[in-house]
Amino acid sequence: MFLVTIPHSPPTDNSGTAQLRDRIADALARARRRTLALTDCLDEAELVAQHSRLMSPLVWDLAHIGNQEEQWLVRNVGGHEPVRADIDELYDAFKHGRANRPGLPLLAPNQARGYVGTVRDRVWDVLERSELRGKPLVDDGFAFGMIAQHEQQHDETMLATHQLRTGAAVLSAVPAPPSSAPVDGEIVIPAGEFTMGSSTDPWALDNERPAHRVSVPGFAIDAAPVTNERYLAFVDDGGYDRPELWSDRGWAHRTEAGLVAPQFWECDPTGRWWRRVFGVMTPLRPHQPVVHVCWFEAEAYASWAGKRLPTEAEWEKAARFDPSTGTSRRFPWGDADPDPDTANLGQRHLEPAEVGAYPTGASPAGVHQLIGDVWEWTASGFEPYPGFRAFPYKEYSEVFFGGDYRVLRGGSFGTDPVACRGTFRNWDHPIRRQIFAGFRLARDLRPGEGE
Ligand code: AVJ
Ligand code: FE
Repeated sequence: MFLVTIPHSPPTDNSGTAQLRDRIADALARARRRTLALTDCLDEAELVAQHSRLMSPLVWDLAHIGNQEEQWLVRNVGGHEPVRADIDELYDAFKHGRANRPGLPLLAPNQARGYVGTVRDRVWDVLERSELRGKPLVDDGFAFGMIAQHEQQHDETMLATHQLRTGAAVLSAVPAPPSSAPVDGEIVIPAGEFTMGSSTDPWALDNERPAHRVSVPGFAIDAAPVTNERYLAFVDDGGYDRPELWSDRGWAHRTEAGLVAPQFWECDPTGRWWRRVFGVMTPLRPHQPVVHVCWFEAEAYASWAGKRLPTEAEWEKAARFDPSTGTSRRFPWGDADPDPDTANLGQRHLEPAEVGAYPTGASPAGVHQLIGDVWEWTASGFEPYPGFRAFPYKEYSEVFFGGDYRVLRGGSFGTDPVACRGTFRNWDHPIRRQIFAGFRLARDLRPGEGE
């Protein structure tokens, strides 16, 4: 059937609604192409296997993506009958920890594929009928945007599972672009207020809201993330064997976990360092940002370098504040969506790009590669902004506030643009390093500096 009657279709602004519907359809379709690319390349045994106790079997992520989409878009927004009400419990992340998921009676890979396809078919119908306004859940297509972001977040998690798996490589991508000019040194950001968070970005998630003024003392921030070459200097200087560089918790973790270098680094008998990247041993690339370090390693490196991690507010001010207008941008380069020239996002390249590879993505003050390449650990715990309200459910953000988490900013090469912006907040435990995380350094200003 080609014609669908939309009761009480919006009398005005039809073209705006049609455009929004197209944007939603693009975001959902792009997420699904990626989900299928990450799962179709592995056989059944690999899809149900647990590649690491830190991760779910990929087949769990696949059906969980469909189940969230069913709950929010098919049932809640669409008001349809459940597709499979019986499996909500299996795919509830709070009922079963990742380590226990392989033992559950999960849908088999082909059942999971069928399920997500059936749900998506219903969603196309829901999308076509929705006016995309009238109540907060659907205004500006929020619920659809939330579900596209959710699928992409799991696609990044699935990419991390691919990085952990051993065996022959199954993923490939074009190499990230080289540096076009070296980027080094620090940028001074003078003291002053700026607007942090967003009240207006229609698809900003609850923890990014509301916009609020924050007064940030002057600080200096590195123009680029810490590179492999710099990090190797810390390793070579005995960084992992000097407790004075580590916090008590960090040293205890370094000792218990036996950390000696970033995850996936290997030193050959001649002393050359290699990195295992999605199943391929590659020479360590000196000018790429370091990736797969935990927060405690970042903290120890900062102490060795005589600096510190930026706070979350410092990071966001460096990424968004435009001193010429006094306002906050969506991205360091302005308000335009990311594209292949401004940031390394979207699993186009399966590695961080060398520092200096994205000069057009720099902030007005000259800070590079804040968006994309590697998530950046900040000094801050995950806390609500003043005036926070859980929306549309407490389990996205609220239940994590005040826990043992550190905020990460900026997205990685594995993050889709729909789930990345200057206000986007990610968080994880300070020991985690299977995520695509690196860091950059900051410091307080010396007296007289920045005036
Ligand atoms: C925001 C990335 C920490 O993956 O645990 C996915 C996103 N929430 N499903 C996560 C999320 C529910 C979340 N992070
Ligand atoms: Fe989820």
